[in-house]
Amino acid sequence: MSNTYRIAVLGGDGTGPEVVREGLKVLDAASRKHGFRLDLHDYDLGGERYKRTGDILPDSVLDELRGFDAIYLGAIGHPDVPPGILEKGLLLRLRFELDQYINLRPVKLYPGVDCPLKDKGPEDIDFVVVRENTEGLYSGMGGFQYKGTPQEVSTQVHVTTRFGAERAIRYAFDLTRKRKKMNQLHLVAKTNVLTFVHDTWWRAFNEVGEADYPEIKREYAHVDATCMWFIKNPEWFDVIVVENMFGDIITDLGAMIQGGMGIAAGGNINPAGVSMFEPIGGSAPKYTGQDVICPLAAIEAGKMMLAHLGEESAAAAIERAVVESLSSGKIRSLSAGKMGMGTSEVGDLVAGMV
Ligand code: IPM
Ligand code: MG
Repeated sequence: MSNTYRIAVLGGDGTGPEVVREGLKVLDAASRKHGFRLDLHDYDLGGERYKRTGDILPDSVLDELRGFDAIYLGAIGHPDVPPGILEKGLLLRLRFELDQYINLRPVKLYPGVDCPLKDKGPEDIDFVVVRENTEGLYSGMGGFQYKGTPQEVSTQVHVTTRFGAERAIRYAFDLTRKRKKMNQLHLVAKTNVLTFVHDTWWRAFNEVGEADYPEIKREYAHVDATCMWFIKNPEWFDVIVVENMFGDIITDLGAMIQGGMGIAAGGNINPAGVSMFEPIGGSAPKYTGQDVICPLAAIEAGKMMLAHLGEESAAAAIERAVVESLSSGKIRSLSAGKMGMGTSEVGDLVAGMV
């Protein structure tokens, strides 16, 4: 008897649907070989629907999404919609309402991928960022007073709870234990300036580590120094746990050292609920419909989804296929328009190697 997984597919905006199509091609190939089925349900959400109907994420759709085994997302962001509307109303609302409190972002440089760092190779760049995904500056708390006057005041509250910090920290310790790489977890924060919210993180990190993960080495780095180390000594990192906004920022830098947005993927994880997997780059509107965007990030997101669903061997097969396709020399670059192949040809290449 084979497992069947119910997957909600949200292609979203811009190049999202194109890369998701290639991801599904690869997932389909993997499911045939590894004896499971994907029951796919398409959802039309994003900028086009918003412009057409005014809907962003109807409550009824959100309720349906709660019933899936996972969500496979392309990209959110539309050039004709003012900033914040789709991001808050769709992407962040999904993360919050489905309580996807971990944003898991592996940074791994595969052989054959161009790395902008001099003298660094795949043996140096292989770490995972565990980004807290429901709190901090993303909470949405804050507001204006005297808006539009010279006395204008605005605030954006950095909401931190011990509960929220601790559950992210525990997830990161567990992951470090499971990886068995360096047995080392970094807390990245700014304890010298954010002396309240990051003090909560600092104490939670040390108390949890000391009580329940004594064999895991605890390290600390300020966020600005972390940016420096990502460039200078990326080999120092194994697993990083970090609050929401700093995690957002350092994972774009992480994406660059693993070969760019064309390959960087992430998972919005609720370990006890519905998780959502996405390429971490945006909707790249100017490349929409041109068959020039790299689908490897979406393919990698699909791989993470399978691993999360427990199809570990199929996930490993996709990673091998990605590595093999990269070392085949056929893909010239992972940058949009410079691959030397079309989006769908890259999908075919990887699917054929699964
Ligand atoms: C990301 C993105 C989002 C974020 C935006 C689109 C709201 O940058 O997934 O990293 O800030 O989390
Ligand atoms: Mg980001």
